[in-house]
Amino acid sequence: MIYGVGIDLQSVPQMGEAIGRQGERFLRKIFTPGEIAYCSKHGGAARHYAVRWAAKEAFYKAVGDVLPRKYGFLDVEVRNLPSGRPVLELHGSTGEAAAHYGLSFRISLSHSGDYALAQVIAIQEAGRAFPGLEPMREHAAGEAIRLC
Ligand SMILES: CC(C)(COP(=O)(O)OP(=O)(O)OC[C@H]1O[C@@H](n2cnc3c(N)ncnc32)[C@H](O)[C@@H]1OP(=O)(O)O)[C@@H](O)C(=O)NCCC(=O)NCCS
Repeated sequence: MIYGVGIDLQSVPQMGEAIGRQGERFLRKIFTPGEIAYCSKHGGAARHYAVRWAAKEAFYKAVGDVLPRKYGFLDVEVRNLPSGRPVLELHGSTGEAAAHYGLSFRISLSHSGDYALAQVIAIQEAGRAFPGLEPMREHAAGEAIRLC
């Protein structure tokens, strides 16, 4: 069932400026080697970086308040399947916590002009629950939400 959702909008020009100002050091702090390789091989790299930044923010909006406090941008990686479909891969204690609580994620990304948008949906296996925060069990009609 759906545990949480997150959405984030980023400015492509601002990302381009940040990269121009801070260069490689900035990129390596925020993006994994795999993400840097993907973005740098595609034209208009700033939009690909911006949408990955948005995905990391959207991820934390979906579940960040209940995962361990010590996490970083590099724990949340966007990878693309051969079809182009993006998926989230988690690392470190963030990945361990997500596995422990039976969480998996679906993401969707879009970029157009100056904007880059990401949406993350956190799905929790039945019977697993975070302490202190109940997953969304029902929609307005009172029926369980099921994905896939
Ligand atoms: C896959 C597709 C929908 C992407 O459309 P787009 O306008 O280029 O996508 P956006 O610019 O909004 O978003 C780009 C992101 O889409 C995501 N994406 C790419 N291919 C995808 C796929 N097969 N499935 C899901 N997401 C995909 C990627 O994350 C990409 O960003 P990234 O390269 O930085 O990772 C498009 O290439 C396509 O195949 N369109 C066909 C639609 C069609 O047949 N319509 C007929 C009526 S339904």
